[in-house]
Amino acid sequence: MIKYLGSKRLLAPSLAEIARRAGVASAADLFAGTTRVGQALRAAGIRVLSNDTAAYSQALGRAYIEADGSVDRARLSTLLDHLNALPGEPGYVTETFCERARYFMPENGMRIDAIRAEIDRIPLDAVERGLLLTSLLEAADRVDSTVGVQMAYLKRWAPRASNPLQLREPFAVPGPAGTPRMGDANRLAAELGDVELAYLDPPYNQHSYAGNYHVWETIVRNDAPDHYGVACKRLDVRERRSPYNSKTLAWDALADLVSSLTTPWLVVSFSNEGFHAPADVQALLEQRRHVAAVEIDAPRYVGARIGIHNPSGERVGRVSHLRNTELVFVCGPDRAAVEECVAGVLPVAV
Ligand SMILES: C[S@@+](CC[C@H](N)C(=O)[O-])C[C@H]1O[C@@H](n2cnc3c(N)ncnc32)[C@H](O)[C@@H]1O
Repeated sequence: MIKYLGSKRLLAPSLAEIARRAGVASAADLFAGTTRVGQALRAAGIRVLSNDTAAYSQALGRAYIEADGSVDRARLSTLLDHLNALPGEPGYVTETFCERARYFMPENGMRIDAIRAEIDRIPLDAVERGLLLTSLLEAADRVDSTVGVQMAYLKRWAPRASNPLQLREPFAVPGPAGTPRMGDANRLAAELGDVELAYLDPPYNQHSYAGNYHVWETIVRNDAPDHYGVACKRLDVRERRSPYNSKTLAWDALADLVSSLTTPWLVVSFSNEGFHAPADVQALLEQRRHVAAVEIDAPRYVGARIGIHNPSGERVGRVSHLRNTELVFVCGPDRAAVEECVAGVLPVAV
């Protein structure tokens, strides 16, 4: 299970149930991140358009939203065996993320470099490439030395960091093949055509995903970017700031997005720990549609659960609370249909 702040892994079954009751055949997950929600929608028989500004999310989308029965899994398995057997070869990851910073042990960093370079040498179609990149990201995530965000690494190696990097085949998600996209949700909103449901899960505070997951972005892009600071973040993290991470821009971005969407159904995830008050979001959505809100008690983000650590990796503080309330707003064409969708949709057991 890949470590990702704000992953809706636990909410995904409830969201898929809401979409199933809405009776939609297509949905757009406009801030897809790990693609967990898109996976659940797809498994419920819904055709998914999966979008995010991050290149790593698009790679995950190729593996989990687009890949279907036409993938030659025997060839994929042979390719993974080949990549797993490659000897390490020092490159950008080793130098930047193992020697300058310490996200991976050098043995694993050299293998990431060798595998990443080889992926670009093998003739692959877009889905195969996405499957191999996803396998590499997930393997790297299993041996990293972070607490789940890449704005820092532990001073003392995490025990898992000494495990050898091992590529595994990404699982096959059942359901219709969808489409991964990489771009700004607000731009895409007006181009959704006849998509019936949009799911919105934007960042809700100042913590930038581009900064928190820069190592994955660099592994996928393989563009050896200039970097800054002890965390060795890509320089373009500073330029690619999302309006959703800015207290002054986030509200207008959300309002603009909601007003451009023409999908009959809109489902919005919302945390009570973000910039906006739930009542304001509800009022915004009510301007356009009938709205119902479902409150879901959920564990807090991965960092809170892991605890507060000093740079030596020792636990130093107590996290104030480990659970928060996640709100899901469901907006649809008429009140009865919306109420039908949310009736009895209870928190998933967590
Ligand atoms: C809360 S996370 C989504 C988590 C996702 N639902 C999951 O289950 O993994 C927010 C996502 O929005 C993406 N993002 C930020 N600004 C964006 C924008 N303007 N357009 C599209 N995606 C954006 C981030 O890269 C991040 O993956």
